[in-house]
Amino acid sequence: MQAAMHRLVGKKAFVTGGSRGIGAGIVCRLAREDAAVAFTYRGRRDAAERVEQEIKKSGGQAIAIQADSGDPDALTKAVDHVAEELEGIDIFVSSAGTLLFKPIEQFTLEDFNHIVAVDLRAAYVGSKTVLKHMGKGGRIVFISSNIADHAALPMTSLYSMAKAGLDGLCKGMARDLGPKEITVNTVHPGPISTDANPEDGPYSKQLKSFMASPKFGKAEDVAGLVAYLVSDEAAFASGASYRIDNAFAA
Ligand SMILES: NC(=O)c1ccc[n+]([C@@H]2O[C@H](COP(=O)([O-])OP(=O)(O)OC[C@H]3O[C@@H](n4cnc5c(N)ncnc54)[C@H](OP(=O)(O)O)[C@@H]3O)[C@@H](O)[C@H]2O)c1
Repeated sequence: MQAAMHRLVGKKAFVTGGSRGIGAGIVCRLAREDAAVAFTYRGRRDAAERVEQEIKKSGGQAIAIQADSGDPDALTKAVDHVAEELEGIDIFVSSAGTLLFKPIEQFTLEDFNHIVAVDLRAAYVGSKTVLKHMGKGGRIVFISSNIADHAALPMTSLYSMAKAGLDGLCKGMARDLGPKEITVNTVHPGPISTDANPEDGPYSKQLKSFMASPKFGKAEDVAGLVAYLVSDEAAFASGASYRIDNAFAA
């Protein structure tokens, strides 16, 4: 574990999909930097409780809340509830995503709607609700994917589409919110070892062959970049995408 920095004292963060994987890495990192952190999960209460307890044991403030990012009402209620509990939200990170891969001939309209709902619409719905509670200097980050830049593998069409959509949303929002000194950015991870994409999984060898050195990243690698983007230091960074993928898409 790196030495903790304390850039987020007094900040209140809301992270979707924060109980496992990249989202959990972000939640723990923001808490270590002294933010109060609320995070959602979809169904695995056990994993969410573990993250919540770990943060509380270290003296931090954490709130785990069940809310499916694909359900706009549930997400809106969760954001409003947390904003009331924490008295505002300074940081919003949309990390929950659905990794659904099929050849284009096999995708259904239900698949399309599901991917758009979880990977793209949730970022819009979450941001719209968060903005009611966010003041000057707020920070918004969407977890996209390097597949938005470079679809190196087959079966990624809808995932790539939804993740690329986050970049468009980010750019337009950054323009709209600049006058309020709120920044909006997307982060494009490459292969990061999580339950959804384990380093020893079936695509591992192929994915490693695309990188500058044959290794997956860790959730903490992505979390470090996000922690910078949501800090006061990053006030001039807005409307951009940041790839973190060991040269995968270079
Ligand atoms: N891993 C990679 O290589 C990689 C690369 C590029 C981009 N990404 C992106 O990074 C994000 C996280 O991926 P990951 O690999 O860390 O996934 P993961 O290991 O499967 O973790 C998923 C987390 O999100 C939650 N979640 C899933 N669906 C949700 C929903 N509909 N509503 C609310 N929470 C939900 C899960 O909660 P439960 O435990 O309750 O299900 C869990 O906390 C995704 O947006 C993914 O597209 C991942």
